[in-house]
Amino acid sequence: MNPLLRLDSVYKSYGDEEVLRGVSLDMEVGDVEVVVGPSGSGKSTLLRCVNRLTEIDDGDIYLDGDRVTAPDTDVNELRRDVGMVFQDFNLFAHKTALGNVTLGLRRVRGMGKAEAREKAMEHLDQVGLGDQADSYPAELSGGQKQRVGIARALAMDPKLILFDEPTSALDPELIGEVTEVMRDLASGGMTMLVVTHEMTFAREAASTMTFLDQGEIVERGPPEQLFDRSERKRTREFLSRITARHGDAQP
Ligand SMILES: Nc1ncnc2c1ncn2[C@@H]1O[C@H](COP(=O)(O)OP(=O)(O)OP(=O)(O)O)[C@@H](O)[C@H]1O
Ligand SMILES: [Mg+2]
Repeated sequence: MNPLLRLDSVYKSYGDEEVLRGVSLDMEVGDVEVVVGPSGSGKSTLLRCVNRLTEIDDGDIYLDGDRVTAPDTDVNELRRDVGMVFQDFNLFAHKTALGNVTLGLRRVRGMGKAEAREKAMEHLDQVGLGDQADSYPAELSGGQKQRVGIARALAMDPKLILFDEPTSALDPELIGEVTEVMRDLASGGMTMLVVTHEMTFAREAASTMTFLDQGEIVERGPPEQLFDRSERKRTREFLSRITARHGDAQP
């Protein structure tokens, strides 16, 4: 069987700067892959290549056996299959929570108003925001905004959701409500590729953790391997720095 996502020796440069230098990884359905690494190591670039927000220079990416990086790939179709949750939420300020979630259903999926509304409500309920459907982003906390962002991604029934530092813009006391929703998704079998500094989430929810440094995978394996028995100095040093800053990852 094909992996759900396959990155095969992906290279990406900006000018002279090699940002991804031969990144390969496979994810199966239901996997939660957490990617960590220093600022500038290529984490966001890696995610953006998967839904073709960024074009790669060499290598291949496959989703469910289809070559994402083929010139004739329907990028709109790809982005229906690959949801994305952004650090800064990317909500439309002039639309309610409900309006933000129904937008893609109406425009991209072509659903009628009533059907889109019903589906959007289902996913707002799923993230615990059924009672905030009519609120505008300005009336929501950061944690609530990000949960709307997650509901919006879920509503498209994606095969995979990419998360790029979904809690980095949040006040510390609001992080938990978002990681809790993400944990629920993970245990519900959603396939997720997550860049995050939340090491408690990584330890508890990740099936695999990848440490990316200077565009290369330094180490990849079960979270316990990286946290507790890494033989690589770079991994140990990075994780001890990040856990000191973002809370420990003890079970
Ligand atoms: N559109 C772009 N044009 C030019 N350089 C870029 C572009 N996007 C990213 N870069 C560069 O590529 C490198 C990797 O960037 P990327 O955003 O992928 O890193 P990151 O690991 O996500 O970092 P952070 O933790 O700060 O979010 C950086 O040096 C960045 O300046
Ligand atoms: Mg980034």
